[in-house]
This record gives sequence, structure tokens and C-alpha cells, in this order.
Amino acid sequence: MRILLFGKSGMLGSCLYENLSEMGHKVFGFNSSDCDITNKRKMKVIFDELRPDFVVNAAAYTSVDDAEKNPKLAMDINGNAVGKIAGLCEIYKAVLIHFSTDYVFDGHKKTWKESDKPCPINVYGESKLLGEKLIPENMRKFYVIRTSWLFGENGKNFVDTMAVLGKEKKEVKVVNDQFGAPTYTKDLAKKVIEFFVKKKPVLEYGIYHITNSGTTNWSDLAANIFKTLYLETKVKEITAEKLNRPAKRPKYSTLKSTKFNFEMRPWKKAVKDYLRKYFIIAPY
Ligand SMILES: NC(=O)c1ccc[n+]([C@@H]2O[C@H](COP(=O)([O-])OP(=O)(O)OC[C@H]3O[C@@H](n4cnc5c(N)ncnc54)[C@H](OP(=O)(O)O)[C@@H]3O)[C@@H](O)[C@H]2O)c1
Repeated sequence: MRILLFGKSGMLGSCLYENLSEMGHKVFGFNSSDCDITNKRKMKVIFDELRPDFVVNAAAYTSVDDAEKNPKLAMDINGNAVGKIAGLCEIYKAVLIHFSTDYVFDGHKKTWKESDKPCPINVYGESKLLGEKLIPENMRKFYVIRTSWLFGENGKNFVDTMAVLGKEKKEVKVVNDQFGAPTYTKDLAKKVIEFFVKKKPVLEYGIYHITNSGTTNWSDLAANIFKTLYLETKVKEITAEKLNRPAKRPKYSTLKSTKFNFEMRPWKKAVKDYLRKYFIIAPY
């Protein structure tokens, strides 16, 4: 299969690129320096030259706080460019696999189904929702996968940040009133390929929720990381209001998958597995 992958250098994109290439697919991967997805002319040339069967879009403007200062850029990359990619997929008869976020929801209830109405409370969420809306307006054969709280190789993520801070500091302040499901890029990439590339089982086009199972909050996640790494660092729990970051975040954003019967492994196991690769962990 000929696969076009945007966001090759990113946390999820790099993992998908590696997995898809290992399977023997011809994967053409792009970073923002090779091709800015907002560059319509360049995108058209790429589709025309490469004629993909699948397009995987893991490119995005992912800085949630910076998006508040740069709404136009976030909307262009996460919204308008995604609509254009969808239009090109329709013309070139390619299936699109695109990623979205738990931050399309406002967080007023504990879990969120695919059919729940999105209502973002920050610019990043609005921009990702625009992308979700423009896809079906421009094409038919797409899978939009909403996921949450990603961690993994090749990207800035909370697990790495805490692992580093935990070694440097005696106490770290972490928010205790936002709840969600940490998700390992390796687990997500594996499932995405199984469900939407290998098509086992065959699934209808549309929106899907995929995360590691279970729910936690940021302070419990930090405590879990410190414990796993033998660190005695204390977690000082604070509220999101007190931390006062530029972007609001949903209080509850755990995504529930209702379209088929499957559960990924619990987030705790995934975090431990990830930490084991890069750090020395406690023997329990
Ligand atoms: N991170 C999370 O916690 C999280 C949670 C839920 C959903 N998601 C979604 O999951 C997907 C992957 O996220 P991630 O955390 O793996 O992203 P990431 O590590 O921030 O990587 C983003 C990728 O997008 C590329 N990119 C940015 N702007 C671009 C542009 N204008 N043109 C072309 N490429 C561009 C970057 O390329 P350069 O490196 O060259 O700039 C990079 O390869 C995104 O759709 C994101 O919204 C992420």
C-alpha cells in the first residue's frame, strides 16, 4: 500500500511511520519543513506525484496554551488544512486516517461517547473540531480517531516532564482537578493500524475513540510516575484555577469507545512499560 503520512517527526507520527514501514508499506513521511500542510499548491503536487491509497494525518498545531495567542495559525493547521487534505483524498480516492482530541469536549460530564456533542472551551479544541467538521464536508472514506493525554518517544509530554522534574525537585505542583486517560503512542499506533489499515475487523467510516483504559488526574499520574521511578518527590496538588494557564482545559475528558467491543491495556501498565524503556523502575 502507498501511504502518505504527515507529522512524521511528531510523537504519534514517528511511531506510526515506524510501524507502517516495518509492515512493508511504502510510506512517504513529511515534516513541516518538507511540506507545510497549509501550503495548498505543494499539497496538490504531493498527492499528484505520490497517488496514495491511504493518507495518515498526524500533523497538528498541538501547543494548547500557545493556540490562545495564535488562533489563526491553529485554525489553519488543525482546521482549514485538514479540510483541504480531505478534498484531495476524495479526488485521489485515498482513505484518510486523521487524529483529534478529547479537548473537543467541555468536560462537564465524566465520560464522552463518539456521539456526544462537542463543545470546546479553548482555541486548540475549536481548531481540532473545525478539522473534524471539514472532513465529512469534503470526502466520504475517513476515520477520525479521537485520543487523549499522549505520551511516547519523540515528543514533549507530561510523563517525560515529570520523570525529569522528579529527579531535580523535592516537590512538584500538579493539577488535581482534571481527569482523563493517558495514552501511549505505541499502543495507539498498533490499534489504529490493526483496525483501520489491516481492517480487522472491518469498520464503518466515521469517528472513533481510542485511548488506554482507565482514568486518572494529572497529580495521581505524576505520583504514579515518581513511585515507578523510585523517586521520593512529593506531589503538591493544586487546582487548575490556581495554576492559571492561558488555555482552559476540560475537567473530565475520558473518551469512551462505543462503536466496537475492545479495551486497550490500562494506562498504568502502559506508563510502566514506557518508563521501563528509558529509566530504572521499581521492582513491583
Ligand atoms: N499530544 C497529545 O496529548 C494529544 C492528545 C490528543 C490528541 N492529539 C492529537 O494527536 C495527533 C498527534 O499529536 P502529537 O502530540 O504526536 O503531535 P506532535 O508531537 O506535536 O507533532 C506534531 C507534528 O505535526 C507537524 N506539523 C506541525 N505543523 C505543521 C504544518 N503546518 N505542516 C506540516 N506538519 C506540521 C510537526 O512537524 P515539525 O516537527 O516539523 O514541526 C510534527 O511532526 C494530533 O492530531 C493531535 O491533535 C494529541
